[in-house]
Amino acid sequence: MASAGYEHVTKRFPGGETAVNDLCLDVKDGEFMVVLGPSGCGKSTVLRLLAGLEDVTEGVIRIGETVVNHVPPRNRDVAMVFQTYALYPHMSVFDNIAFGMRMQGLDLADIAPRVSRAADLVGLGSLLNRLPRQLSGGQQQRVALARAIVRDPQLFLFDEPLSSLDAKLREHMRAELRKIHRLLRATFLYVTHDQLEAMTMGDRIAVMKDGVLQQVGPPRHVYDHPANLFVAGFIGTPAMSFIPVAVAGRIATGSALEIELPWAPGVDEGVLGIRAEALHENAAPGEPTLELDVDTVEILGRDQFVVGAVGDNPVVARIDSHVKVGRGERLRLGLDPERIHLFDGRSGQAVV
Ligand SMILES: Nc1ncnc2c1ncn2[C@@H]1O[C@H](COP(=O)(O)OP(=O)(O)OP(=O)(O)O)[C@@H](O)[C@H]1O
Ligand SMILES: [Mg+2]
Repeated sequence: MASAGYEHVTKRFPGGETAVNDLCLDVKDGEFMVVLGPSGCGKSTVLRLLAGLEDVTEGVIRIGETVVNHVPPRNRDVAMVFQTYALYPHMSVFDNIAFGMRMQGLDLADIAPRVSRAADLVGLGSLLNRLPRQLSGGQQQRVALARAIVRDPQLFLFDEPLSSLDAKLREHMRAELRKIHRLLRATFLYVTHDQLEAMTMGDRIAVMKDGVLQQVGPPRHVYDHPANLFVAGFIGTPAMSFIPVAVAGRIATGSALEIELPWAPGVDEGVLGIRAEALHENAAPGEPTLELDVDTVEILGRDQFVVGAVGDNPVVARIDSHVKVGRGERLRLGLDPERIHLFDGRSGQAVV
């Protein structure tokens, strides 16, 4: 196994597009690192640079202790799994998994046990004689995974491998991939635009926007302490609600919002960030409050999402589903003072 490192890595494409801008990121040996960001933010480029499928414009890429900038892809000992499985349609599952080893000229006696070990690991043990078209999408994805596993690489690179599966299968495969990661004790670098995937699978998440790394940390930390407005809005479902506030006086009062803001030196225009679950229906005396003009209600089971507005700002609350509330009502909610986020209105950086 191996660690991987990006040191001030920039990738500019010939057209002038900067896909990755001064990236510094360390992936630890055995870690499950997820690179998360919207379409076009440079995620695939980050992977392709490590695989050697793209050259860096500036900076250094390491695998373990070795600088690999000029090491050809086949000598980097990484395996990549893509969204599209690229299986050979006329070959059985066994032959698809064995293909690389056959090309290396290994004997069937050496190949067979490795294929069955990898197939068992991904739950394909009984399907080795099938053709790809006789498999479901999830099973085809497992063949692609087994094909990577038999190579026993130092690093596994995944580029949105689950995005063509349906929601239920995706959920199942998330758990499977975690398990496989544990069993292999391998280093995974996994790219996705799906924040739920990132939250549930990553040991750490690296959030990117426009080629720039925004924040790196364990999912819980990034969720609780987003470094800026972009990360705050991108991570979490429903998205964090934002209300612009004047910070200078430190007390925001309006008919709809009563809250003492944290001291923020140098910040006069702020943006208050509120997670849905930081709101609750029974405001304690002295606790900050807001008044939500209710638009829609979505019952989830134990909880409900109450979607509405505070003044002109859309806000979502997650409260007990037994609270009776309907469209057009005004609901007074308490806000947990420990769970207030405040961002600098100009830079977008978190203040607290
Ligand atoms: N070969 C290329 N030549 C020119 N520009 C490219 C090339 N590959 C990618 N880009 C540009 O670099 C930027 C980052 O692309 P990249 O594929 O890394 O994004 P991504 O985050 O993987 O997006 P997606 O989620 O849509 O897969 C994009 O603006 C893209 O248009
Ligand atoms: Mg991509």
